Amino acid sequence: HKIAVLVSGNGSNLQAIIDAVEDGRLDCSIEYVIADRKCYAIERAKKHGIKTFVLDRTGFKEELSQRILEIIGDDLDLIVLVGFLSILDGEILNVYKGKIINIHPSLLPKFSGKGMYGIKVHEAVLKAKEEETGCTVHFVTGEVDAGKVILRERVPIYDGDTPEKLANRVLIVEHRIIVDAINKVLEG
Ligand code: GRF
Repeated sequence: HKIAVLVSGNGSNLQAIIDAVEDGRLDCSIEYVIADRKCYAIERAKKHGIKTFVLDRTGFKEELSQRILEIIGDDLDLIVLVGFLSILDGEILNVYKGKIINIHPSLLPKFSGKGMYGIKVHEAVLKAKEEETGCTVHFVTGEVDAGKVILRERVPIYDGDTPEKLANRVLIVEHRIIVDAINKVLEG
């Protein structure tokens, strides 16, 4: 199987995918890692000899999506969004219908939608005095964070949790379920 991974940040989820491919827990090859800005995730990909592209997102969102489609072509098996902060739109959603997944650091549909990403999610969860949180891998549709859920796992919240402590506890689970979700989707 051939996949592309879209990133914008640190790339710890990308690293989990790279590690799983390299130790045989994922039967696929990462053909491209594409970012919508300079980020450490791109450095991680380069270290593993993966083809990388850093695109400029200042144009219209359709332009970014069109550029990505031009780069990857139409014959990949899966596009994986991990910490990718731009919205995909237009033709790529049709060409890769049912073949784009995203990971979000909450129990969707709670704490979803535009502006709800990264540490902001955990701040909102703590502010709402939730008993627990979690992370969700879902299919990407035209609507932000709204596609069918593939895998979801709960993560406990402890007294005195800061957004950073909670983010790190969730991230550890993300690194596991993103690999499980890719396996699940690729195995059909
Ligand atoms: C994290 O907030 C993670 O929950 C979300 O994207 C952010 C960055 O993750 N998926 P990563 O370390 O760049 O994979």
